[in-house]
Amino acid sequence: MKIEPFKLERYYTFHEHSAQYSLCNSDCEAMTIGDLLSLEESSKEAFDNMWLGYTETQGSPELRQNISAIYKNIQPENLLVCTGAQEPIFLFCHAILMAGDEVIVQTPCYQSLQSVPESIGCNVLKWNVQHEEGAPSFDIDILKSLITNKTKVIFLNTPHNPTGFHFTKEQQKTIVEIARSHNIIIFCDEVYRELEHNPIFAIPAFADVYENGVSVGVMSKAYGLPGLRIGWLATQRQSITDKVAMLKEYTTICNSGPSEFLAGVALRNRNKILDRNLAIVKANLPLYEAFFKKHDELFSWYKPNAGPIAFVKMKQGRDDMQLAEQALKQNGVLLLPGSIYDYEGYFRIGFGRVKMPEALEQFDVFVTNHMLSLKGQFVLFNKSTT
Ligand SMILES: Cc1ncc(COP(=O)(O)O)c(C=O)c1O
Repeated sequence: MKIEPFKLERYYTFHEHSAQYSLCNSDCEAMTIGDLLSLEESSKEAFDNMWLGYTETQGSPELRQNISAIYKNIQPENLLVCTGAQEPIFLFCHAILMAGDEVIVQTPCYQSLQSVPESIGCNVLKWNVQHEEGAPSFDIDILKSLITNKTKVIFLNTPHNPTGFHFTKEQQKTIVEIARSHNIIIFCDEVYRELEHNPIFAIPAFADVYENGVSVGVMSKAYGLPGLRIGWLATQRQSITDKVAMLKEYTTICNSGPSEFLAGVALRNRNKILDRNLAIVKANLPLYEAFFKKHDELFSWYKPNAGPIAFVKMKQGRDDMQLAEQALKQNGVLLLPGSIYDYEGYFRIGFGRVKMPEALEQFDVFVTNHMLSLKGQFVLFNKSTT
């Protein structure tokens, strides 16, 4: 298999664990095993007594029961528990797609949604974001125009990485009707679901509202437990679950038992965890509002209504790589440049972590000391040399 290097994951591999401050995380604040177990009486003893044998390929029946509680029309047998969200994306593509198939991908995107189909030899058509008065949007008429009789899958991601865009219920309904009328599978990456900033923005999972819908969920983002590496694929189409499960026997075979156990504890207490993480998001967002108001001449941003990430536009200059390089070099602040998504002139920020305010303070120092607007041109300069 020939596949493009995963730009975002390469970038994180180099910087995530060494940067002093991070302003671009897409996951919510994690917790310790001890804190997680304290959410459920007797779970500590049960965890200590766990048997470390192989687990069931499909995921333990108890965990699948807990996951199915997130959905309306998904039963435990409709679920395949996997390693993170990355594995079900990869396996779904390899199980369902063939060279020559046409797929549509909402772009910019988390790269595997585009690069895995490309590596299989699919013809990938991009449904590009538009920015109307700063707010990201996706034109459904354009989606319609991209559909041909060869279109097999529409890949979506809502809430969307990196723009923070989230479909409304009406938009979701229209997209499902279009896909249904052409018998197209909708594969929706929903890793940021359940982190709507107000319940009015919540929409059903695509797997719940569409018989040909496939939803991917994970413990990593809204629940803030990426170290568990537990994710899943949900679909009412049993043939899809079965095909993907067969391929999983060539990758991870089954999941880590301790991780499945801990994911179960988290999901049985998911409202507590989501409330905690939403409180962090809601405390952090006003800090960005104040920051972007203060630096209005340099940046514009769209405040999302769901998820822990947003995309920021550079108003002067488009060299997001240089901006990220300098912010890291001068003040130890990690940003995620838009070029990583082949989308120049933007950078991604996160607001699900408790240390985000510290990182933002440092970015403010960097902006104040090292960025200057000269005759409408964005330049970076080192204050000590001026
Ligand atoms: C949209 C999206 N999908 C999938 C993933 C992969 O998730 P995981 O790390 O849990 O495998 C990410 C991670 O950043 C993501 O943002």
